[in-house]
Amino acid sequence: MDQLMLLKPARDYLEEIFKYRSAFIAMGEPMDGTGSLYRMPDPNDWLQQVEDLSRPETTPENWVVTSQYICVRPYDNRLVGMIQLRHFLNEFLELYGGHIEFSVLPEDRGKGYATWMLKNTLRYARDLALDRVILACDANNAAAVRVIEKNGGVPLDTVVEPDYDTELRRFTITL
Ligand SMILES: CC(C)(COP(=O)(O)OP(=O)(O)OC[C@H]1O[C@@H](n2cnc3c(N)ncnc32)[C@H](O)[C@@H]1OP(=O)(O)O)[C@@H](O)C(=O)NCCC(=O)NCCS
Repeated sequence: MDQLMLLKPARDYLEEIFKYRSAFIAMGEPMDGTGSLYRMPDPNDWLQQVEDLSRPETTPENWVVTSQYICVRPYDNRLVGMIQLRHFLNEFLELYGGHIEFSVLPEDRGKGYATWMLKNTLRYARDLALDRVILACDANNAAAVRVIEKNGGVPLDTVVEPDYDTELRRFTITL
Protein backbone atom coordinates (compact mmCIF):
# COMPACT_ATOMS: atom_id res chain seq x y z
CA MET A 1 0.00 0.00 0.00
CA ASP A 2 1.06 3.63 -0.56
CA GLN A 3 2.87 5.25 2.32
CA LEU A 4 0.58 7.62 4.26
CA MET A 5 0.88 10.10 7.12
CA LEU A 6 -1.66 11.32 9.67
CA LEU A 7 -1.09 14.99 10.40
CA LYS A 8 -2.73 17.76 12.38
CA PRO A 9 -4.40 20.10 9.86
CA ALA A 10 -2.19 23.09 9.05
CA ARG A 11 -2.22 26.12 6.74
CA ASP A 12 0.12 24.33 4.30
CA TYR A 13 -2.87 22.18 3.34
CA LEU A 14 -5.51 24.90 2.93
CA GLU A 15 -5.84 24.27 -0.81
CA GLU A 16 -6.02 20.50 -0.34
CA ILE A 17 -8.70 20.94 2.36
CA PHE A 18 -10.68 23.09 -0.05
CA LYS A 19 -10.34 20.46 -2.79
CA TYR A 20 -11.38 17.68 -0.40
CA ARG A 21 -14.54 19.57 0.53
CA SER A 22 -15.33 20.30 -3.12
CA ALA A 23 -14.95 16.62 -4.10
CA PHE A 24 -17.52 15.54 -1.51
CA ILE A 25 -19.94 18.31 -2.46
CA ALA A 26 -19.62 17.29 -6.12
CA MET A 27 -20.45 13.68 -5.18
CA GLY A 28 -23.27 14.74 -2.83
CA GLU A 29 -21.73 12.68 -0.03
CA PRO A 30 -21.44 13.37 3.71
CA MET A 31 -17.94 14.41 4.83
CA ASP A 32 -17.61 12.04 7.76
CA GLY A 33 -14.63 12.78 9.96
CA THR A 34 -14.33 16.41 8.97
CA GLY A 35 -16.43 18.10 11.67
CA SER A 36 -18.17 21.20 10.27
CA LEU A 37 -16.20 21.40 7.02
CA TYR A 38 -19.34 21.06 4.90
CA ARG A 39 -20.66 24.29 6.45
CA MET A 40 -17.38 26.17 6.05
CA PRO A 41 -16.43 27.21 2.51
CA ASP A 42 -13.35 29.03 3.86
CA PRO A 43 -10.87 26.43 5.16
CA ASN A 44 -9.34 29.08 7.43
CA ASP A 45 -12.58 29.06 9.46
CA TRP A 46 -12.41 25.28 9.67
CA LEU A 47 -8.79 25.35 10.84
CA GLN A 48 -9.78 27.75 13.61
CA GLN A 49 -12.61 25.47 14.70
CA VAL A 50 -10.30 22.44 14.66
CA GLU A 51 -7.87 24.37 16.86
CA ASP A 52 -10.66 25.45 19.25
CA LEU A 53 -11.98 21.90 19.60
CA SER A 54 -8.54 20.51 20.34
CA ARG A 55 -8.45 22.01 23.87
CA PRO A 56 -11.02 21.87 26.68
CA GLU A 57 -10.71 25.59 27.45
CA THR A 58 -11.71 26.63 23.92
CA THR A 59 -14.28 23.91 23.26
CA PRO A 60 -17.80 25.40 23.24
CA GLU A 61 -20.34 24.20 25.78
CA ASN A 62 -22.15 21.04 24.65
CA TRP A 63 -19.33 20.16 22.23
CA VAL A 64 -16.62 17.61 23.00
CA VAL A 65 -12.85 17.92 22.71
CA THR A 66 -11.81 16.40 19.39
CA SER A 67 -8.54 15.59 17.64
CA GLN A 68 -8.73 16.12 13.90
CA TYR A 69 -6.27 14.47 11.53
CA ILE A 70 -5.70 14.73 7.82
CA CYS A 71 -4.24 11.81 5.92
CA VAL A 72 -1.57 12.88 3.46
CA ARG A 73 0.12 10.75 0.79
CA PRO A 74 3.75 11.91 0.77
CA TYR A 75 4.62 11.02 -2.83
CA ASP A 76 2.26 13.64 -4.27
CA ASN A 77 1.39 15.55 -1.07
CA ARG A 78 -2.35 14.94 -1.66
CA LEU A 79 -4.81 15.01 1.20
CA VAL A 80 -6.58 11.67 0.68
CA GLY A 81 -8.56 11.21 3.88
CA MET A 82 -9.77 12.75 7.11
CA ILE A 83 -10.46 11.23 10.50
CA GLN A 84 -11.46 12.64 13.85
CA LEU A 85 -11.24 11.28 17.37
CA ARG A 86 -13.58 12.52 20.08
CA HIS A 87 -11.95 12.38 23.49
CA PHE A 88 -15.20 11.50 25.25
CA LEU A 89 -18.88 11.12 24.40
CA ASN A 90 -22.06 12.79 25.54
CA GLU A 91 -25.35 10.93 25.58
CA PHE A 92 -26.17 11.73 21.93
CA LEU A 93 -22.71 10.88 20.60
CA GLU A 94 -22.62 7.65 22.60
CA LEU A 95 -25.63 6.47 20.62
CA TYR A 96 -25.33 8.13 17.22
CA GLY A 97 -21.86 9.59 16.67
CA GLY A 98 -19.20 7.47 18.32
CA HIS A 99 -15.59 8.35 19.09
CA ILE A 100 -14.22 8.10 15.55
CA GLU A 101 -15.49 9.12 12.12
CA PHE A 102 -13.59 9.04 8.85
CA SER A 103 -13.77 9.49 5.09
CA VAL A 104 -11.54 8.99 2.06
CA LEU A 105 -11.41 11.04 -1.13
CA PRO A 106 -13.77 9.34 -3.63
CA GLU A 107 -11.02 8.76 -6.23
CA ASP A 108 -8.77 7.06 -3.67
CA ARG A 109 -11.15 4.50 -2.22
CA GLY A 110 -10.55 0.77 -2.21
CA LYS A 111 -6.81 1.17 -1.60
CA GLY A 112 -6.85 0.34 2.11
CA TYR A 113 -6.52 3.98 3.18
CA ALA A 114 -9.49 4.05 5.60
CA THR A 115 -8.36 0.80 7.21
CA TRP A 116 -4.89 2.28 7.72
CA MET A 117 -6.27 5.59 9.07
CA LEU A 118 -8.49 3.86 11.63
CA LYS A 119 -5.69 1.54 12.75
CA ASN A 120 -3.37 4.46 13.37
CA THR A 121 -6.01 6.63 15.05
CA LEU A 122 -6.65 3.82 17.53
CA ARG A 123 -3.08 4.43 18.72
CA TYR A 124 -4.00 8.02 19.58
CA ALA A 125 -7.13 6.76 21.36
CA ARG A 126 -4.89 4.53 23.49
CA ASP A 127 -2.74 7.56 24.28
CA LEU A 128 -5.89 9.23 25.70
CA ALA A 129 -6.19 6.23 28.06
CA LEU A 130 -9.52 5.19 26.56
CA ASP A 131 -10.10 1.48 27.09
CA ARG A 132 -12.54 1.15 24.20
CA VAL A 133 -14.02 3.25 21.42
CA ILE A 134 -17.49 3.21 19.93
CA LEU A 135 -18.09 3.69 16.21
CA ALA A 136 -21.46 4.15 14.52
CA CYS A 137 -22.09 3.94 10.80
CA ASP A 138 -24.99 3.73 8.41
CA ALA A 139 -26.21 0.13 8.41
CA ASN A 140 -26.09 0.14 4.59
CA ASN A 141 -22.50 1.37 4.44
CA ALA A 142 -20.78 -1.95 3.70
CA ALA A 143 -17.34 -0.39 3.15
CA ALA A 144 -17.38 1.41 6.51
CA VAL A 145 -18.59 -1.73 8.29
CA ARG A 146 -15.73 -3.69 6.71
CA VAL A 147 -13.14 -1.08 7.73
CA ILE A 148 -14.40 -1.21 11.33
CA GLU A 149 -14.47 -5.02 11.39
CA LYS A 150 -10.94 -5.22 9.97
CA ASN A 151 -9.83 -3.10 12.93
CA GLY A 152 -11.38 -5.42 15.51
CA GLY A 153 -14.86 -3.87 15.64
CA VAL A 154 -17.40 -5.98 17.50
CA PRO A 155 -21.11 -5.28 16.82
CA LEU A 156 -22.99 -3.69 19.72
CA ASP A 157 -26.47 -3.01 18.37
CA THR A 158 -28.50 -1.14 15.74
CA VAL A 159 -30.13 2.21 16.51
CA VAL A 160 -32.22 4.70 14.56
CA GLU A 161 -30.77 8.20 14.36
CA PRO A 162 -33.75 10.44 15.17
CA ASP A 163 -32.88 13.53 13.07
CA TYR A 164 -32.44 11.66 9.78
CA ASP A 165 -34.39 8.47 10.55
CA THR A 166 -31.28 6.50 9.54
CA GLU A 167 -30.47 3.02 10.80
CA LEU A 168 -27.00 2.96 12.33
CA ARG A 169 -24.89 -0.01 13.33
CA ARG A 170 -22.81 0.53 16.47
CA PHE A 171 -19.50 -1.24 17.07
CA THR A 172 -16.97 -1.25 19.86
CA ILE A 173 -13.22 -1.73 19.58
CA THR A 174 -11.33 -2.71 22.70
CA LEU A 175 -8.01 -0.88 22.97
C1 LIG B 1 -16.13 4.13 4.02
C2 LIG B 1 -14.86 4.67 3.39
C3 LIG B 1 -14.16 5.56 4.39
C4 LIG B 1 -13.95 3.49 3.02
O1 LIG B 1 -12.71 4.01 2.57
P1 LIG B 1 -11.66 3.11 1.74
O2 LIG B 1 -10.34 3.79 1.82
O3 LIG B 1 -12.21 2.81 0.42
O4 LIG B 1 -11.64 1.78 2.64
P2 LIG B 1 -10.55 0.59 2.54
O5 LIG B 1 -10.00 0.57 1.16
O6 LIG B 1 -9.61 0.70 3.68
O7 LIG B 1 -11.45 -0.70 2.83
C5 LIG B 1 -12.72 -0.84 2.25
C6 LIG B 1 -13.19 -2.26 2.51
O8 LIG B 1 -14.58 -2.28 2.22
C7 LIG B 1 -14.81 -3.20 1.18
N1 LIG B 1 -15.91 -2.65 0.40
C8 LIG B 1 -15.94 -1.54 -0.35
N2 LIG B 1 -17.16 -1.40 -0.90
C9 LIG B 1 -17.89 -2.45 -0.47
C10 LIG B 1 -19.24 -2.87 -0.69
N3 LIG B 1 -20.07 -2.17 -1.45
N4 LIG B 1 -19.64 -4.01 -0.09
C11 LIG B 1 -18.82 -4.72 0.70
N5 LIG B 1 -17.54 -4.37 0.96
C12 LIG B 1 -17.10 -3.24 0.38
C13 LIG B 1 -13.52 -3.26 0.40
O9 LIG B 1 -13.45 -4.43 -0.37
C14 LIG B 1 -12.52 -3.24 1.55
O10 LIG B 1 -12.46 -4.48 2.22
P3 LIG B 1 -11.26 -5.55 1.90
O11 LIG B 1 -9.97 -4.85 2.22
O12 LIG B 1 -11.56 -6.69 2.79
O13 LIG B 1 -11.37 -5.88 0.44
C15 LIG B 1 -15.17 5.48 2.09
O14 LIG B 1 -16.01 4.70 1.27
C16 LIG B 1 -15.84 6.82 2.36
O15 LIG B 1 -15.16 7.83 2.57
N6 LIG B 1 -17.19 6.87 2.38
C17 LIG B 1 -17.92 8.10 2.69
C18 LIG B 1 -17.78 8.46 4.16
C19 LIG B 1 -18.17 7.31 5.06
O16 LIG B 1 -19.09 6.56 4.76
N7 LIG B 1 -17.46 7.18 6.22
C20 LIG B 1 -17.71 6.14 7.18
C21 LIG B 1 -18.55 6.63 8.30
S1 LIG B 1 -17.65 6.69 9.82
